[in-house]
Amino acid sequence: MMTNDRRVVSPAPMLTGTVQVPADKSIAHRAAMLAALSDGTSRIVHFPAARDPQSTLACMRALGAGVSVDADGILVVDGLGTDGLRAPAGPLDCGNSGTTMRLLAGLLAGRDFESTLVGDESLSARPMGRIRDPLSLMGAAVELTEGHAPVHVRGRRLRGITYELPVASAQVKSCILLAGLLAEGTTTVVERVPSRDHTERMLGLDLVVLGDRRLLSVDGGKRIPAGTWTVPGDFSAAAFFLVAGSVVPGSVLHLRGVGMNPTRNALLDVLRAMGADISVESERTLGGEPVADLTVRSAALSGVSVSGDIIPSLIDEIPVLAVAGALAEGTTEIADAAELRLKETDRLTAMTGMLTAMGADVEERPDGLVIRGGPVLRGAEVESFGDHRIAMAAGVAALVARGDTVIHGASCASVSFPGFWDVLDRAAGRG
Ligand code: S3P
Repeated sequence: MMTNDRRVVSPAPMLTGTVQVPADKSIAHRAAMLAALSDGTSRIVHFPAARDPQSTLACMRALGAGVSVDADGILVVDGLGTDGLRAPAGPLDCGNSGTTMRLLAGLLAGRDFESTLVGDESLSARPMGRIRDPLSLMGAAVELTEGHAPVHVRGRRLRGITYELPVASAQVKSCILLAGLLAEGTTTVVERVPSRDHTERMLGLDLVVLGDRRLLSVDGGKRIPAGTWTVPGDFSAAAFFLVAGSVVPGSVLHLRGVGMNPTRNALLDVLRAMGADISVESERTLGGEPVADLTVRSAALSGVSVSGDIIPSLIDEIPVLAVAGALAEGTTEIADAAELRLKETDRLTAMTGMLTAMGADVEERPDGLVIRGGPVLRGAEVESFGDHRIAMAAGVAALVARGDTVIHGASCASVSFPGFWDVLDRAAGRG
């Protein structure tokens, strides 16, 4: 970790004003890919500047899609059709983005060319066997190095399969559905636990529910009409301010145009169950996704237990939920969340280390955390481990700690939320 990449965050008296959250990273990846596969010129309104979606965009460019920005700042993508991507001149750099790597592998598996997907140190340590296995069943040739990137994809003619997801993962689900666009026959993904559904919404796929099985099917040869996608505000980015506004006394924060997809926003219900005061106004639909304006007012929180099928719907919000738990009265228990160990860093270990350094009582379990909350944290030196959500969770905890907190590796917040630290400072009245 570079020693000058650090941020010192002081306690804040209160948070006020309106926070503009960045556009949704998950939706943006998919919009960039589907626009490049569309028949004609597509437009993406509010395409985020965050590093992860920009990695996807650069890959789609390298695969032949024309990308420009018009006078109104709208991204214009000249699509090549589902079968029109071209062989890249070199390795496709997915940066820090698991979504880019896993979805692109599916997109590339049925092509008549070879491609190699590479990533940074963190991404190169994340499991890729979970996409190689179903793609191999479809007939693809995917080579990994000990289960990891680089992902070498030798395009093959694919056949449709029915595949039950062994782990609730929207990335794996989306990888298979995107591969299915070029497969012979129908490809069906079966999930037992709902995970984020942006891909199926954008492809217009129908969900079939059979008992506790949820089936999504795509027909090979499906075309994607050119169109305009509008990317709503990122609930996962808003989450940091929902917790910050709850725990910093005297706060009132407004968040506009936040994505409210029910497969993403379970943190809202959990925070409310803890006693948070969050109102939801002006519910509407934007680009096929529900959005709303949120207002959070500070409130005393109490502990909560979170486990089971709800976990995938708040998987990215658990680091900041742990901060809320540390400041709540009573015990917060998070279970069935072992997937957190496979994110940009091991988020269970990282949050345990951070909150313990700040004086909290945290017990790390194989699949979760037990946090015995209390009113006081103290400023400390903490590490992001290059993980944007760990860095931002530390930023929130620092607002209510006694004394300053030094966050090493703070700049990685820009992976999903460029300008996060300035937004936080402005809300705290020091902008
Ligand atoms: C994502 C799915 C989730 C999530 C990630 C984005 C997506 O990962 O943690 O930040 O855009 O599909 P998994 O599918 O691995 O659970």
